[in-house]
Amino acid sequence: MRVLGSSMLCCLIGDPVEHSLSPQMHNAVFEHLGINAVYIPLRVPKDALAASIEIIRKSNFLGANVTMPHKESVLALLDEVDGAASGIGAVNTIAKEGDKLVGYNTDGPAALHAIASRVSKLSNKSALVLGAGGAAKAIAWLLVEHVAELHIANRTFERAKELARALSRKGVAYSHPLERGVLKQLLPKVDIVINATSVGMYPRVDETILTKEYFLPHHVVFDAVYNPLLTRFLQEAKKAGVREVIPGIEMFVLQGALAFEKWTGRRAPIELMRSVVEKELGGGSV
Ligand SMILES: NC(=O)c1ccc[n+]([C@@H]2O[C@H](COP(=O)([O-])OP(=O)(O)OC[C@H]3O[C@@H](n4cnc5c(N)ncnc54)[C@H](OP(=O)(O)O)[C@@H]3O)[C@@H](O)[C@H]2O)c1
Repeated sequence: MRVLGSSMLCCLIGDPVEHSLSPQMHNAVFEHLGINAVYIPLRVPKDALAASIEIIRKSNFLGANVTMPHKESVLALLDEVDGAASGIGAVNTIAKEGDKLVGYNTDGPAALHAIASRVSKLSNKSALVLGAGGAAKAIAWLLVEHVAELHIANRTFERAKELARALSRKGVAYSHPLERGVLKQLLPKVDIVINATSVGMYPRVDETILTKEYFLPHHVVFDAVYNPLLTRFLQEAKKAGVREVIPGIEMFVLQGALAFEKWTGRRAPIELMRSVVEKELGGGSV
């Protein structure tokens, strides 16, 4: 990769940022397509967010990704926020459009695409989302419009209730506490099971919300966690012989591809992006 005086920039704004695989993924794409741009991790403490947005606005940036803890607070600093991102209340991608900074959420469309490409007749299906944090909101916000019913179960029940209440304007949504008995009753009634909690994420790779006794052969099982590639949650689902497992890398690569397309107007080389991330995560098939 050559960094020139004329290079354009993209960055990841967050704190911390060192765990991210986005720099490797996007720099590989810039290099592969011969785009004179560089993607850098920018650790931005809370009190420097407004200043960093001003630099992106005024300097040689194509755009940015946004991660914790800024996904929500950044909305107020942008010129426009697209409908889904404002509904979700979180932005993970900023694109420079003319002299405006526009906020998007590419997590939701990425997850929906990963699920919809595996499940036929989504409109007849019911889905369970475990979690009510940022990833859960982004996934549920779009999914609720495409499935017959959506169930949200969260450790902090109040957050599940709040999310289901917000979603019920767009579709059929129910909330549940994250309790064994409740899940045991619920799981036979759902077709798609999604882990959108951070449980099982590196380094606590032995943890899982559900073990194999909970999964059923008709389930399609998706885990938003992408490190490790094959989480304990997906391993348990496989042991139960579920119809299909979808690893979080699918969502991660697609959210990056959608961001890249907003920044450059060009089609993203998805297979290359996936192979870079797989390699960073130690390879292996799911
Ligand atoms: N694949 C992708 O592209 C992608 C994109 C975004 C995020 N993610 C991944 O998705 C995961 C969640 O991220 P996030 O941004 O939504 O985080 P977040 O906003 O902090 O939400 C965390 C969620 O996990 C739940 N949780 C945490 N520890 C738990 C435990 N021990 N038992 C039960 N529930 C627990 C929380 O429940 P409470 O409400 O009770 O605290 C909350 O619902 C992370 O692993 C992240 O890396 C992946």
